[in-house]
Amino acid sequence: MKNICVIGSGYVGLVTATCFADLGNKVTTVDIDENKIAKLKEGVMPIYEPGLEELVERNVKADRLNFTTSYEEGLDDAEFVFICVGTPSAVDGEADLKYVRSAAETIAEKMDHPLIIINKSTVPVGTGDWVADIVNRVQTEAIDFAVVSCPEFLREGSAITDFMNPDRNVFGSTNREAAQKVADLYAALNAPAVITDIRTSEMIKYASNAFLATRISFINEISIICERLGADVTEVARGMGLDKRIGPHFLQAGVGYGGSCFPKDVKALANMALTHGMHPQLLNAVMDINDFQRKQIATKVRELLGGTVENKTIGILGIAFKANTDDIREAPALTIMRTLANQGANVKAYDPVAMENAEREIRGVTLADNAYDVAEDADVLVLLTDWNEFKQLDMARIKGMMREPLLVDGRNIYDPDAMRELGFVYRGVGRGYNGEGVANGHAAHEDMAPVAGD
Ligand code: UGA
Repeated sequence: MKNICVIGSGYVGLVTATCFADLGNKVTTVDIDENKIAKLKEGVMPIYEPGLEELVERNVKADRLNFTTSYEEGLDDAEFVFICVGTPSAVDGEADLKYVRSAAETIAEKMDHPLIIINKSTVPVGTGDWVADIVNRVQTEAIDFAVVSCPEFLREGSAITDFMNPDRNVFGSTNREAAQKVADLYAALNAPAVITDIRTSEMIKYASNAFLATRISFINEISIICERLGADVTEVARGMGLDKRIGPHFLQAGVGYGGSCFPKDVKALANMALTHGMHPQLLNAVMDINDFQRKQIATKVRELLGGTVENKTIGILGIAFKANTDDIREAPALTIMRTLANQGANVKAYDPVAMENAEREIRGVTLADNAYDVAEDADVLVLLTDWNEFKQLDMARIKGMMREPLLVDGRNIYDPDAMRELGFVYRGVGRGYNGEGVANGHAAHEDMAPVAGD
């Protein structure tokens, strides 16, 4: 049992604190947001994450997990303090470190015994050293401390499983003994530990997210080519992914990546390269392709409607940036819905859990009660988030409710042939079609004739 303080009760902080408590440690979560802490004390979660509420409840009951707005209370007897605050994008994509700075300063002011300070927030390379400088500068008396970078690799929607079953954990510090102590906190999880210097550890986080985003943009670019040449990207990805050197993950073509991590982190890494005199060509391409992918969906809708969306009713299935989360930050659905609404469409949308967030954030879009309400009198139905509940809708009923049987499947969750058999005009992503009603590979057309390379 260790005594741990976690600063920040957002996504990363809350999951980290709760999972460490569940492993038998005593954890205090500190957040300056009084409202959030008050709600957490009542058992109300600030985010939707499967399994989190039950786990928080269990550990609060067992007196292993508690919440406070007081740093003194959090740091009291703590051996480890995790900084898990937000690092939003500032101008030019640079990470905004104001919350990290403020956490480091307050820790330095309040600490009265040696501490290991762990950076879990995603921070630019060099931030660990900067945090150490802040603590040294702000401390009124010199108390021993070490800074360790321990990036997080949790995915929203499966964060608890990811924490408990990591592929690896990474620990970076100039103080190897401190890094090892943090690694020991994770020892029960039996995952490989990469112990390295602090800047390398910080870079592992950015490089991992940027690589995954690159895979997504790669398959999205392939999807565009597939579409024109009459191939099916879902089969291409399967065929590629069975090669052990490639692997099957993050090869799902769709509406582009969103969320609070990939868009921000790829931008921040590109910005780091740029400010150090390099030209991050690949990262720039990854971002361009991602923007294009969203635009493509709006283009498909427009094309299906004969060139204009004006006064047409467009039903949107899914607003969250991916399934199993209520998070709509940088969600492709937001850009797509805005584009369509700006072009004069009546947009109505439904998401199984992101409705509250959507209500707060989105203007000019009607929110519907369920998928069937979305379909009612719609001219086009557009699937943007691959929620399970959308996979087995009664599509015959849906078709009967719509004004036109037009379906854009932004996540390729439906079987194109089955949809066409039902009478839909179906457009997936990267599932070659060539003119109305012609299923993938079922018709030859001169546009699809093989072209010899130059
Ligand atoms: C991502 C990483 O996967 C985590 O390892 C990391 O810890 C986290 O960012 C972070 O830095 O905090 P997350 O943003 O929760 O996690 O979501 P992912 O499951 O990675 O999906 C990101 C986006 O890519 C989503 O919009 C998703 O729909 C999209 N995606 C994912 C695809 O379009 N295709 C795929 O094949 C996979």
